[in-house]
Amino acid sequence: MYNERVLEHYHNPKNVGEIKNADGVGIYMSGSCGDITKFWIKVDQEKIIDAKYMTQGCAASIACGSALTELIKNKTIDEALKLTKNDLLTVLEGLPEPKVHCSMLADDALKDAIRDYLTRNNLPVPKELVKKHEELMPQIRELEKKGYLLI
Ligand code: FES
Repeated sequence: MYNERVLEHYHNPKNVGEIKNADGVGIYMSGSCGDITKFWIKVDQEKIIDAKYMTQGCAASIACGSALTELIKNKTIDEALKLTKNDLLTVLEGLPEPKVHCSMLADDALKDAIRDYLTRNNLPVPKELVKKHEELMPQIRELEKKGYLLI
């Protein structure tokens, strides 16, 4: 069901883990399945120089996080903001239809890390990123309280 490229990222995921002293940290939970991905970025002169992720999710979410961390390295914040799930799907040469939402999870977690970076640096933050973050955080805090958040 998964193509070779997806399986390669799943079996040998790149950039798993967290970045100590990250410049931006983001988290997102899929509305369709409840899987969660967390993203860390290191930024130097507006350029993403390092990215890591962890996921509490399916095989496709592992592959998507891995491919996305590679895709955004050395991109500027603006370039990373313009990336879409379709760019990720292109890199992965597609996902089975029921797994397309997994690419949105990785992308939303990255965008939340960028939101965090922009906020910390008093830079303008796209309104939709703030809205998504504020809507999600009560659920994330609830999961944390219950001990369901493992990443
Ligand atoms: S099944 Fe939901 S992120 Fe993969």
